[in-house]
Amino acid sequence: MPDLTRRRLLATAATLPTLGAALSTVPAGVPSAMAAPAQSAAASPAPVPADLAPRERLRMNDGWRFHLGHAADPLQDFGFGADRSTYAKSGDLSAPVAKADFDDKDWAAVTLPHDWAVDLPFAQARLPGKEAAEAMAYQGFKPLGRQFPETSVGWYRRTFTLPASDAGRRLSLEFDGVARNCLVVLNGFIVATNESGYAPFRVDITDFANIGGANTLVIRVDATLGEAWSYEGAGLYRPVWLVKTAPAHVPQWGTFVRSTVTPGGADLTITTELANEGPAADLTVRSTVLDPDGKAAVQLDAPPVALGAWETGAVTQAVPLPAPALWSLEAPKLYTLVTEVSVGGAVVDRYHTSFGIRTLRFDANEGFFLNGRPVKVKGTCNHQDHAGVGFAVPDRLHAYRVERLKEMGANAWRTTHHPPAPALLDACDRLGILVMEETRQMSSNPEGMSQLERMVRRDRNRPSVFLWSIGNEEIHRGTEQGARIAASMKRAVYRLDGTRPITEAFNGKFGQGASPVLDVMGFNYYLDEIDAFHARFPNQPMIGTETASTVCTRGVYAHDDARHYVPAYDTEYPKWASTAEQWWTFYDSRPFLSGGFAWTGFDYRGEPTPFIDWPNTVSNFGILDLCGFPKDNYHYYRAWWRPDQPHLHLFPHWTWPGREGQDIAVWCHSNLDAVELFVNGRSLGRKDVTRNRHLEWTVPYQPGAIEAHGYKDGRRVLTQRQETAGPAHALTLSADRVKLLADGDDVAVLSASVVDAKGRLVPDADHLVTFTIASLEGGGARLLGVGNGDPTSLEPDHAPYRKAFKGLCGAIVQTGKQAGTVRVTAKAEGLKAATVELSLEKAAPVASVGPA
Ligand code: GAL
Repeated sequence: MPDLTRRRLLATAATLPTLGAALSTVPAGVPSAMAAPAQSAAASPAPVPADLAPRERLRMNDGWRFHLGHAADPLQDFGFGADRSTYAKSGDLSAPVAKADFDDKDWAAVTLPHDWAVDLPFAQARLPGKEAAEAMAYQGFKPLGRQFPETSVGWYRRTFTLPASDAGRRLSLEFDGVARNCLVVLNGFIVATNESGYAPFRVDITDFANIGGANTLVIRVDATLGEAWSYEGAGLYRPVWLVKTAPAHVPQWGTFVRSTVTPGGADLTITTELANEGPAADLTVRSTVLDPDGKAAVQLDAPPVALGAWETGAVTQAVPLPAPALWSLEAPKLYTLVTEVSVGGAVVDRYHTSFGIRTLRFDANEGFFLNGRPVKVKGTCNHQDHAGVGFAVPDRLHAYRVERLKEMGANAWRTTHHPPAPALLDACDRLGILVMEETRQMSSNPEGMSQLERMVRRDRNRPSVFLWSIGNEEIHRGTEQGARIAASMKRAVYRLDGTRPITEAFNGKFGQGASPVLDVMGFNYYLDEIDAFHARFPNQPMIGTETASTVCTRGVYAHDDARHYVPAYDTEYPKWASTAEQWWTFYDSRPFLSGGFAWTGFDYRGEPTPFIDWPNTVSNFGILDLCGFPKDNYHYYRAWWRPDQPHLHLFPHWTWPGREGQDIAVWCHSNLDAVELFVNGRSLGRKDVTRNRHLEWTVPYQPGAIEAHGYKDGRRVLTQRQETAGPAHALTLSADRVKLLADGDDVAVLSASVVDAKGRLVPDADHLVTFTIASLEGGGARLLGVGNGDPTSLEPDHAPYRKAFKGLCGAIVQTGKQAGTVRVTAKAEGLKAATVELSLEKAAPVASVGPA
């Protein structure tokens, strides 16, 4: 297939999906003779049976046992590497830990997702010197790496039964992500190794399974070496699945729906890969497209494909879809493709693919267009990390994080610097958030290409994904090798997808090396080079792949070097970065820029900036802190990213004992026409608001109140007041949702605040808050973790207590499988306790693998 040059891509950019359709012959590696020549659209779609699919995809999150191993001493690593025959010629792992009769009853019982690093005590470098100290800071002062062999390896074990009826089926394990280097052993056989901490991988276990009996799955995970300059967690931090199919089936990620929007309709091109891991057979593919309401909109039957034993093939079907509901940011409509594979008239596989129909276009002068309408990308970069859980983010917590940023007005998410968990992308598809998805290793070596291919194949049907990022600030970006690597990766992406452009995040060396290879030029920072680049390369669309890196500590309004806090006014940033106001004002005023991604939406562990030393464990880059409590910059974005929603935010708080008479900077983020500030009832005058800017006053402190009146078209429409708080009196407790599913997985995010007798936040309160959960009406839930957003806190994430930081702390509660009600209570000495009730609704059981 010829490579598509950027120019050609852009020439056809208005119809990127058409380009996809043009590319949609047969996936690589599939002989084109296998493609079905034609297909017929069934006159009236038959209903799709709602019964259990003949394929099973079972979650394996329960029933694990965990124990730390050792990266340097085989005797403490369950014998792994104790002798040269560790990797025996027959492909088995000789260590006793891999055997079914190994006694693991002393191991900890754990549930996935699981991150063992988050439970390790914080630690400083064992080696002397600045480098060793900084290495610890970058990983959030968690003891992983060569200096800590005794906490860098983890072992997981679980058993499961495969019924006799599985005989003849194909069996595989699917891992959504393991941090990091892992060895997967089933029934003593080494079945896989995987080195990426982020790319999903699949293991065919059919040859090694005990059908009709117990199976022992053992996984050694070695997190000694990392891939990032921030915290990365350790272990089985994303879900694991057992997949059972018939010999004739759709292989993993084997469907692809491309769409071209036409006047009044859309043309769909559906490619279905087929694997026949059994005797020769004639396979028939029926594709049914369900509309966003779940009704069958189109159904297509392809003529049978004759596949010999162990042959693969593919079917391409094309069909017009009248009046499609487009996926957009406002109405993210999702279709479902139901693929049924039949042999001899019996359905042997049923595979579901969620997809959306929309057009994308990047223009070098006018920016980005979704469905033909200009959309300025208002994005944030994010790692997978949250208070209370570390990297082991439950599915619902991913959605919670997306919701918080969407509320702020964000319409895009960059998955830095790796492919994300599927649940994150599900949330973005469902909520209407654009995703710039990034591969981890920027290389055209086999591992790099494999990681890239796994990402693109997994996520190419997702309407949210609008840009593939092949790299970030790579050392080789400006070189000839960088250009060749980028070209190879681009070729692979076009072959696997071809409906989305590629980008790479550059920091300097713009225009050199890989730069001209990119469909969309990615700028990290360097505002002062953007105009010159556009002038030199007027035909290359541009996006701010990374911007801001503004540092703020929530609730802090003065430099505090001793405690390592940075003020939350929008004033602090490292030398390569800018304030929120600077970057957004710049990007918003240049139509040729497609928009950008602020570094970062949420704080994350590691890369503590600007204080890189102990005990700074968390970055200060977040617009929200590690718990999801908004910092004041949240309101800057909220004002200017949702200009249609009047917004007024006055800060700081007005409780400054001991600072009477001293000047305090008072700021306001508002998108109204003008704001008038009152101090203890006296007006300091009205100031007009300039687009994308804040307002600022200097006010000598006296206890009492400051009040902002916001005006629109001459009318006062919003008022906000900050009053001097009295002594701490009570706690308040709230939850993001009070109706949850009793599925053992759902979570509520709880916020506790310390307030005075009048319910005003006590802004410096640091009470130790204890959380307890009581079951009412049989409901069951557990406290998953706690946090407070303090970047220097050395308290544990998994504990029933947490100190408040600047008046706030949070807890995550996870449901059990018992429906009913639970009451969560927050208590602190000397304060009135607070409760919140969560009602847990009966949930359909999640198909999962029980223990043996
Ligand atoms: C960028 C980098 C990010 C993060 C950020 C902090 O250069 O791509 O991963 O380190 O700086 O400002």
